[in-house]
Amino acid sequence: MTSAAERGKTKYQINLRRYLRECDVDRDLTRVICEIANASKYIINAIRTGDLGVAGTSNLYGEQQLALDVLADRIIQKRLMYSGVVANLASEELPDIIEVTHPSNKRYSIAFDPLDGSSLVDVNLAVGTIVSIFESDNLLQPGRNQVAALYVLYGPRTTMVVSTGKGVHEFAMNQLMEFDLVQENITMEGGAKVYAPGGTRAKYSPGTEKFARHLETNGAKLRYSGGFVPDINQVLIKRGGVFMYPHLSDAPQGKLRVLFELNPMAFLIEQAGGAASTGRGRMLDVEPQGIDDRSPIFIGSKEEIARLEQFIAEES
Ligand code: F6P
Ligand code: MN
Repeated sequence: MTSAAERGKTKYQINLRRYLRECDVDRDLTRVICEIANASKYIINAIRTGDLGVAGTSNLYGEQQLALDVLADRIIQKRLMYSGVVANLASEELPDIIEVTHPSNKRYSIAFDPLDGSSLVDVNLAVGTIVSIFESDNLLQPGRNQVAALYVLYGPRTTMVVSTGKGVHEFAMNQLMEFDLVQENITMEGGAKVYAPGGTRAKYSPGTEKFARHLETNGAKLRYSGGFVPDINQVLIKRGGVFMYPHLSDAPQGKLRVLFELNPMAFLIEQAGGAASTGRGRMLDVEPQGIDDRSPIFIGSKEEIARLEQFIAEES
């Protein structure tokens, strides 16, 4: 395929669908990824136009208005339901797994967080969509079995970061609302330039507190927005850093969810040469018991995550 250098020289843009085709990504998987790309056009439009109606209330014209996260959920659900390639869906907005009843070859099952950090829209901070893809009808399996993962970040620009198991690539939405390749094969270089620590520090365990102090004394800058997608994106795009939402004294499983948030991010960061841990082992090896499972997460530069695991092991 055309190399990034050649494309750079000729100012030639390659869009998401074409990039996936040139990388020999399965056609049905390409379908799933492009359905999410299409859904994100409507989601960013809803975010930008400020339709901040509360679920269940009516707008000026007496029409039902939906909260942005509910709206994002409906948009993605519909796209995937009619894609013809999906078996089961799980959304952070829904209590149960939904089986697709429309005609489909049922190759893929998808877990997604339609609008992570949606409360941040009120204060005009960045939010995102997170997607985990399995080639199976079973969503309750370890994240290492994912065939692809992606997130869409709705910030000053709308970007998509995606991996189908062959590296991590970034795309940006252009004027025509199509995603063009920005950079391919993003790799973490090591060292923690930034760190994003979630949860209340006073509730950290001794090992986590030791790790936070280690990062600070080694010059990592505090960069926490409270949005999982932008916070992870910063660690990845700056090619070094750590995000954590640890176990807390009053929340032993932390806050973030395995299926909708942690598995897809762990897949992407590992694909970029980083690591993701529960503090006591590889995130992607966790066997989920239910769609609501939560876990502590430490994710980012490999050597820092290894150090954290050592600090946690020493605390017990
Ligand atoms: O999943 C919800 C979420 O908003 C994430 O985007 C973010 O990382 C986390 O919660 C922030 O939690 P807290 O407000 O406790 O820092
Ligand atoms: Mn979320």
